[in-house]
Amino acid sequence: MGTIILGIESSCDDTSAAVLDDGKVLSNVIASQAVHMAYGGVVPELASRAHQQNIIPVVHKALTDAGVAVSDLAAVAFTRGPGLMGSLLVGTSFAKGLALAGNLKMVEVNHLQAHVSAHFIVEDGKQQPQFPFLCLLVSGGNSQILLVKDYTDMQIIGQTIDDAAGEAFDKCAKVMGLGYPGGPVIDKLAKEGNPDAFQFAKPNIKNYDYSFSGLKTSFLYTLRDKLKEDPDFIEKSKADLCASLQKTVIDILMSKLIKAAKDLKITQIALAGGVSANSGLRAAFEELHTKRGWTVFVPKFAFTTDNAAMVASAGYRKYNKGIFCDQTVAPYSRTII
Ligand code: KG4
Repeated sequence: MGTIILGIESSCDDTSAAVLDDGKVLSNVIASQAVHMAYGGVVPELASRAHQQNIIPVVHKALTDAGVAVSDLAAVAFTRGPGLMGSLLVGTSFAKGLALAGNLKMVEVNHLQAHVSAHFIVEDGKQQPQFPFLCLLVSGGNSQILLVKDYTDMQIIGQTIDDAAGEAFDKCAKVMGLGYPGGPVIDKLAKEGNPDAFQFAKPNIKNYDYSFSGLKTSFLYTLRDKLKEDPDFIEKSKADLCASLQKTVIDILMSKLIKAAKDLKITQIALAGGVSANSGLRAAFEELHTKRGWTVFVPKFAFTTDNAAMVASAGYRKYNKGIFCDQTVAPYSRTII
């Protein structure tokens, strides 16, 4: 046995626990919360309560699946923030209690660094990105370009000034009546549609920053105008709307990323976050490799949405550097890294 780290993730609406041995995944258990579906988005108070119900069975299963006991753990790593405060409190409090009871070291993990750290999970035959590299981190709450200088040294060089990419997918899906979360449904329908059927607004903002609120408004206005002509417009044009929306989001994301890579002369490019499950975005990354010869790193599907394996991976790297926290640590809802 090497260095065994238990990771705990509870930043939003997934309760997850994972066990890593020298950076290799022994187990990764995720309990998603179906309770939010009826509301078209995550309800923070319901999320906290579901985390409380889930946390003990999820950790228990992660330890059992991995075949390890609490006494085998070198440390417990947990998501400290950013995220929903009530949700973070459940994971943080549990980690503190376990650390006290088991006399374990504690490592606090930034949720965004955890997404990037999915690329540091050790797997036989898997190549890891070389520092420095760029990581496009796209989720329901974030859209950022990170300059990753080291396992624990990451700089945000561009980020959204309003909505995140996942949020744009979710909000546009909601107005089409496609349910929550919208990203996976849009991805599926987009495969059957024409990506050039509709033109939506693209932002024109400085540096490597992103904006998705204009696209969302332009999407809404298109629906409003077309529905006046034909009340069945959405039903008839769903696939084309999804394909055109997805293409626009990907164009926006990739153009800034490519600009940053060229300016900084970095050709190692990684993708992370929930939206990295999007098939069109994954294909656009493959194109960076086939057309430009860049080295790209696209996460396994299991490590795209919130999961504790990436938290334990970030925790393992901090553990190796001797970066620990103590029982006074409190969660934070917003931060920059
Ligand atoms: O990282 P994540 O699980 O949670 C946080 O927001 O932190 O990301 C969830 C987001 C949601 O907005 C969801 O719609 C989006 O990821 N998503 C997708 C796909 N799968 C999940 N967006 C586009 N295409 C997908 N296949």
